[in-house]
Amino acid sequence: MTTFAFDVYGTLINTYGMVDLLQRYIGEDKAMPFATLWRDKQLEYSFRRSMMDRYEPFYTCTSNSLDYCIEAFDVNMTADQRFSLIKRYQTLPVYKDVIGCLSSISERSDFNIYALTNGPHEDIERLFEDVAIRQYFKDIVSVDEIGKYKPDRAVYSHFLKRSGASAEDSYLVSGNAFDVIGASSYGMKSIFIRRTKQQIMDPWGGKPTHTIQSLAELEGLFERRTSN
Ligand code: 2OP
Repeated sequence: MTTFAFDVYGTLINTYGMVDLLQRYIGEDKAMPFATLWRDKQLEYSFRRSMMDRYEPFYTCTSNSLDYCIEAFDVNMTADQRFSLIKRYQTLPVYKDVIGCLSSISERSDFNIYALTNGPHEDIERLFEDVAIRQYFKDIVSVDEIGKYKPDRAVYSHFLKRSGASAEDSYLVSGNAFDVIGASSYGMKSIFIRRTKQQIMDPWGGKPTHTIQSLAELEGLFERRTSN
């Protein structure tokens, strides 16, 4: 049996799905750099909270990093616009390759499919229902259950306990290099989803077991076992 731990934000869910709103609020030029800094700061805050033992749910990191960006870019944003951005973050879209991949791999009896995410369980349940992918997952494992963020070793250890899988039969699937390295350091296998050239692996910490450009390539990495 092969177990998959799918990362959510940046892997299944497009964290740039609010750029259209940003374009309207702060202009075409600033929208993408703003969204990039927002994501970077959100992750930085999660890392720092984990290290400082000051865990708060992921939306606190999302909200604090948005405020940081509003100040860093020195933009005027109304309370309504800020609220709309936060709301949009709760309803971000899936990448185009997600549904096809999940629907085909979920038919395989030799695969167990989980989500492993920084997002709280109820938020990810709601998000998955909205984008119609909840049925493909055996369960959603959230860092909220242990109060530590990825790539803390405790997260991958918790995942293996919850899923009952062994590290050598488990693949972390992620578009986030830090997550791939975190899981590999813990002894899990990993699949790096590199949809764009800008997504690069860090030059230290280990390499993913596989790198693919689209989730459409995932199933092809695993030979179908035939019984006779
Ligand atoms: C997630 O856990 C790391 O943002 C990423 O969903």
